Amino acid sequence: MYFKMDHFIVVGGTSGIGKAISENLNKQGLHVTTISRRTEGLTGIDHVSLDVIQSEISVERFEGDIKGMVYCPGTINLKPFRSLSIEDFREDWEVNFLGAVKSLKTLLPKIKESRASIVLFSTVAVQMGMPFHASIGSAKAAIEGLTKSLAAELAPNVRVNCIAPSLTETPLTERLLSTEERRKASADRHPIGRVGNPEDLAQMACFLLSEQSSWITGQIIGVDGGLSTLRV
Ligand SMILES: NC(=O)c1ccc[n+]([C@@H]2O[C@H](COP(=O)([O-])OP(=O)(O)OC[C@H]3O[C@@H](n4cnc5c(N)ncnc54)[C@H](OP(=O)(O)O)[C@@H]3O)[C@@H](O)[C@H]2O)c1
Repeated sequence: MYFKMDHFIVVGGTSGIGKAISENLNKQGLHVTTISRRTEGLTGIDHVSLDVIQSEISVERFEGDIKGMVYCPGTINLKPFRSLSIEDFREDWEVNFLGAVKSLKTLLPKIKESRASIVLFSTVAVQMGMPFHASIGSAKAAIEGLTKSLAAELAPNVRVNCIAPSLTETPLTERLLSTEERRKASADRHPIGRVGNPEDLAQMACFLLSEQSSWITGQIIGVDGGLSTLRV
């Protein structure tokens, strides 16, 4: 199957933040393809069913330039360091970091042909040390390093930026926000007084994908209700 010209590929574009990004781009009339494990994609948006850890994205199916790529798969595996197994680390690094590396390696030859933008996801827990985040924090720190290295290597043709969210209401965080008490405590920790919603992050990702941000590359951008920088 072949798709139209000028793609935006959203790996993990079927849930939470990635879904909000895909829908936002689609609403702008842009051509979006989501990639994720589930067989059904979003209404009106092309979808490729694939586990990016297990299988290769077959780039031949994309015709024309890839103008933007976002990598959204992530985990939340919060445990004290002594309880984190090597397998926990391996899994977090595979989903958060190596999956992004694999996706980029496959898609980059298509991306490099055009002036394109890549958006990756870190977490507030890289900038701020937080207990129980050793595995996810280290995997996301690797994403931040990858962002800067690739931004340098691919300039000026391709921009690479990274968004570092704080707690955002998505299927990934359902358990953390499952009671009214938890929701209130989480909201109260943020200077802006609430947790994030997927659209908060999608707005930033779509800006970074657009020509409006054409002078921004190699940045780690906190979209975190002020948590990483303010004490109020
Ligand atoms: N939500 C937060 O509070 C928060 C905070 C800090 C950072 N982040 C980061 O922001 C990003 C998005 O988070 P989110 O909360 O929107 O996550 P989410 O709701 O769990 O969505 C993740 C997406 O990735 C896909 N996916 C997962 N594993 C995959 C695999 N192996 N191959 C292909 N697709 C895969 C999922 O679809 P399938 O299940 O169909 O594969 C889904 O579309 C993540 O990198 C996360 O670490 C989130």
